Amino acid sequence: MRERVLVTGGMGFIGSNFVRYMHDQHPEVQIINLDKLTYAGNPANLADLADRHRFVRGDVADPTVVDPLVRECDAIVHFAAETHVDRSIAYAGEFVQTDVYGTFILLEAARKYGIKRFVHVSTDEVYGEAVGRPSLEGDALMPKSPYAASKAGADRLAYSYYTTYGIPVVISRCVNNYGPYQYPEKLIPLFVTNALEGKKLPVYGHGRNTRDWIHVEDHCSALDALLQDDDNAGEVFNVGAGQEKSVLDITNIILKVLGKNDSLIEHIADRPGHVARHAVDSTKLTRTYGWKPRYDFEESMRRTIQWYVDHPEWWQPIKSGEFRRYYDEQYGDRSVRNTIQR
Ligand code: NAD
Ligand code: TYD
Repeated sequence: MRERVLVTGGMGFIGSNFVRYMHDQHPEVQIINLDKLTYAGNPANLADLADRHRFVRGDVADPTVVDPLVRECDAIVHFAAETHVDRSIAYAGEFVQTDVYGTFILLEAARKYGIKRFVHVSTDEVYGEAVGRPSLEGDALMPKSPYAASKAGADRLAYSYYTTYGIPVVISRCVNNYGPYQYPEKLIPLFVTNALEGKKLPVYGHGRNTRDWIHVEDHCSALDALLQDDDNAGEVFNVGAGQEKSVLDITNIILKVLGKNDSLIEHIADRPGHVARHAVDSTKLTRTYGWKPRYDFEESMRRTIQWYVDHPEWWQPIKSGEFRRYYDEQYGDRSVRNTIQR
C-alpha cells in the first residue's frame, strides 16, 4: 500500500477523477496534487475534496517545486500534460515543454529521492494508427500529432529511467476517456454542450474515424492496480474498453439522448494528420490483474451526457472565458482551414 502519493495534473479531467477515486477507495492514502492550473486545470473539479487533500499550484517542469514534493512521497502518478491534439497542431512547443521536459524533471526527482512506484500515464495515441488489429504493447510507436509525439517522447524517456537507473516506472496507454469534468474542447463534452446551446456540432471530415471509449473510472481502477503492484517495473499496459465507435456514432448518441435533430451536425475541414483508428488490446492488463472495464458503454454515456445537462454551472463559465477565443480561432473560418497558424 502506498502511503503518500504525488498526483500531477490532479485538477484536470482524469487527474481529478483519480483523486476522487483514491479518496473513495483508499481514504488512508495521502494525496498531494501538483497542478499548474493551465486553461484545462480547474479547482471546481475537486471542490468537494478541497479540504481533504493537499493541493500545490506549480509546474512539473520546475525542479524547485517538484523536488521537495517528490521527497515527501513514496509514489507518483503522472497525469500533468498538455492534452489536446488540435491545440498541439497550433502550439506544439508547449506540448514538448510540459509533456517531455516536465516528465524529465519528475523522473530526475524520482531518481534523486528513491520513489517506490512511478506510474506514467501515457496514451494509445503514441501508437499512431491501429492498422488491421488493436495495438499491442510491443508495437512500434508512430505518433501522428505533436501531442502524440510529445507523449511518445515522455513514454520512452520514462522507460529509459527504468532501464538506465532502475527507477520503478510502469506505463499505461489508455484509450479515449469519457465522464464528468472533461474540458469541453474534447469531442463528447464539446458536442453535448454545443447541442444544449443550440450550436453546430463540428464533425471533422467524414466523421468515420474511430476511437475506443472508456469510462474515466475504469481508467482510474486500472491505474490503481498498476500503482499498488511492486513487480511491474519497466512494463507497459494498454487500457481499453473494446468500445470502438466512430465520431458520427458518438454524435448520434448525443443527439438521441438530448432529443435533438441531426441538422445540428456540420461537417468541416478535416484535422491534419487525423488518425483513422485508435484501439488497443488490453489482454495483458486483464491477465495480470484480472482488471476489466465495469462501466456499460450505453448506460454510462447516457449518464455522462446527463451530467453535463445537470451541471451548466460547471461548463458555462469555461465556455464563456478564454474558450471563446480558442473556439473562434479553431472553428471560425472552418470551410477554408481548420488549424490555427501562429
Ligand atoms: P486535461 O487537459 O484535462 O488535464 C491536464 C491537467 O494537467 C490540467 O489540470 C493542467 O492544469 C495540468 N497541467 C498542464 N501542464 C502542467 C504543468 N506544466 N505542470 C503541472 N500541471 C500541468 O487532461 P486529461 O484528459 O485529464 O489527461 C490527463 C493525462 O491522461 C494526460 O497525461 C493525457 O495524455 C493522458 N490520457 C488522456 C486520455 C483522454 O482521453 N483524456 C486518454 C489517455 C491518456
Ligand atoms: P478528441 O476528443 O479531440 O480526442 P483525440 O483526438 O485525442 O482522439 O477527438 C475525438 C475524435 O473526435 C477525433 O476523431 C476527432 C473528432 N472531433 C471532431 O470531429 N470534431 C471536434 O470538434 C473534435 C473536438 C473532435
